[in-house]
Amino acid sequence: MCGIVGIIGNDNAGYKVLQGLKDLEYRGYDSAGIATIHNDRLGVKKSVGKISVMEDGFLKKPLEGRIGIGHTRWATHGVPSISNAHPHLDCSGRIAVVHNGIIENFVSIQKLLIKEGHKFVSESDTEVLAHLIEKFYKGNIERAVKEALMLVKGTYAIAVICAQEPGKLIIARHQSPLVMGVVKKGSYIIASDITPISKLTKRVIYLSDNEMAVLSMKDYHIVKISDLSRNLVKNIERIDWELGDSEKGKYKHFMLKEINEQPDIVKNIIFSHVIKKKGMIKFGGLESTWRTDNKKEQGKTGMDYLLNVSRIIILGCGTSWHSGLIGEYIIENLVGLPVEVEYASEARYRNLCINKNDMVLAISQSGETADTLMAIKEAKKKGAVTFGLVNVVGSSIAREVSGGIYLHAGPEIGVASTKAFTGQTIILALMAVLLGRHKGKISLERGKKIIKSLEKVPVQMKNIIDNDNSIKLLAKRLAKYNNFLYLGRAYNFPVALEGALKLKEISYIHSEGYPAAEMKHGPIALIDKNMPVVVIATDTEDEIYEKIISNIREIKSRRGIVIAVASEGNRKIRNIVDETIYIPRTDDFLVPILSVIPLQLLAYHIAVKKGCSVDKPRNLAKSVTVE
Ligand code: F6R
Repeated sequence: MCGIVGIIGNDNAGYKVLQGLKDLEYRGYDSAGIATIHNDRLGVKKSVGKISVMEDGFLKKPLEGRIGIGHTRWATHGVPSISNAHPHLDCSGRIAVVHNGIIENFVSIQKLLIKEGHKFVSESDTEVLAHLIEKFYKGNIERAVKEALMLVKGTYAIAVICAQEPGKLIIARHQSPLVMGVVKKGSYIIASDITPISKLTKRVIYLSDNEMAVLSMKDYHIVKISDLSRNLVKNIERIDWELGDSEKGKYKHFMLKEINEQPDIVKNIIFSHVIKKKGMIKFGGLESTWRTDNKKEQGKTGMDYLLNVSRIIILGCGTSWHSGLIGEYIIENLVGLPVEVEYASEARYRNLCINKNDMVLAISQSGETADTLMAIKEAKKKGAVTFGLVNVVGSSIAREVSGGIYLHAGPEIGVASTKAFTGQTIILALMAVLLGRHKGKISLERGKKIIKSLEKVPVQMKNIIDNDNSIKLLAKRLAKYNNFLYLGRAYNFPVALEGALKLKEISYIHSEGYPAAEMKHGPIALIDKNMPVVVIATDTEDEIYEKIISNIREIKSRRGIVIAVASEGNRKIRNIVDETIYIPRTDDFLVPILSVIPLQLLAYHIAVKKGCSVDKPRNLAKSVTVE
């Protein structure tokens, strides 16, 4: 939530910051602001709404300077307005601060500062930082920022500039993401994530909690906030995201681009991890040695842990939680290993019992979701071995866990997650096969058969996407309804949840996902001629299919409109439903990777038909870094 950018050592710093904010807009789009220093004076521009509003104003009257900071906001404290937009300034207008996170003790600090004569102009918690830095400023901005940070409680990634020291950009982080890009000596870009950075440089340094960096037009140094006297040595890492990865290309929306990328992503995941001849799966992230503070465990690989766990506890939020649910079903069915899936936000605040041989798996596209990150930290305190399934390389969760697997799905920009979901699901399925093979639950022959099915999945996904036109027509007919139900059983129950989430978040239509059998325990009361019900009714498992057909009849008896997602070749189902979307046949545990695609497309086309902001739905942000 919220995105920050900073540039130093570039002749066009203000413009570059603006470009960076455009890349981070998916983190929040309530308001935006930029500050630069030119001729020892601070220039500031702010706007309410999307970055395009800021861009119009900026291009008419650009801010000059070789140093600048910017912010795109997802409102937490105070409505979206010019006064609440960042950067926030001190009383003298010399110090500017952008901040991602929440200053929890801002009320008490603000009271103190008001007593001392500081004048506040916003409702934002961030403004206290600007005034606190002003209070401590005695000609050394680095020291003043440090002293201010020692007093604040909460989470932050900040960037600070000061007109009296125009050659310095100060950044610091505590539990909010912050990355520093090294363009060349004396020229740096900092941002909340690597998307804007990757356009200027591939060389990055990930700041850790309680670290502060001082960047100047000559050099940089990094210190611990609590100990400014000792410079830290941190590795410069190379990122592999390409420029085009974060561009829309020929697509109208990032969401559509990302839906279309899924076959290739899933193909890459499958083909880089299967060993055909052995009917086996291999992950580099599991073969490598995992981080541990426990001396007795040093040198253990991910596989050493994984093969000895007695239970896996999966933590995640939203779509990542849904893929976790599918993972639970697959691992329990294929391996017989107990799995629990918890909302990270709930797991953190209850006494989650973690036993000796439990492993805690965090699933997160962004790797920055605060609820998941905090839950992982809590699990670590309880002694759990932690494991991450993350897309963004070098993100906070990726660095917090003992080890893990990256999705390598490229940047997901559309706020509604699509390619991360299928990427996560296929990796969980592969993990299940890997465990099943090692534990003797899946024979060599079955392993080989599974790999054959897996190899077909990318083409099957593409076939569904190529059928987009008929889903588009269906979406046109359905866009007028105000409520939807999504039903599925077994592997398709989490898909129903995911389909409903996609529709509600981008089209603002109320939709609920349920296990199909639960319908008769309440939701059936809602069904009438105005209630479309999307039923995932694939027929890979006979027993389940018969039950779902009964559910469909129950809906039809109450005049509900049934849209069935059915297995190719099942002509009979057309006689009892209103609309049918066919998907190719595959093994039962791989069905979710296919059945989710028509639901993504349906939500997408309904949202487009309704004229909604598909990639940036209202009130949402891509990276949820507040709890
Ligand atoms: C929904 C969506 C969200 C995220 C959730 C977790 O389309 O994108 O529900 O899945 O905010 O985000 P990550 O996976 O980044 O932890």
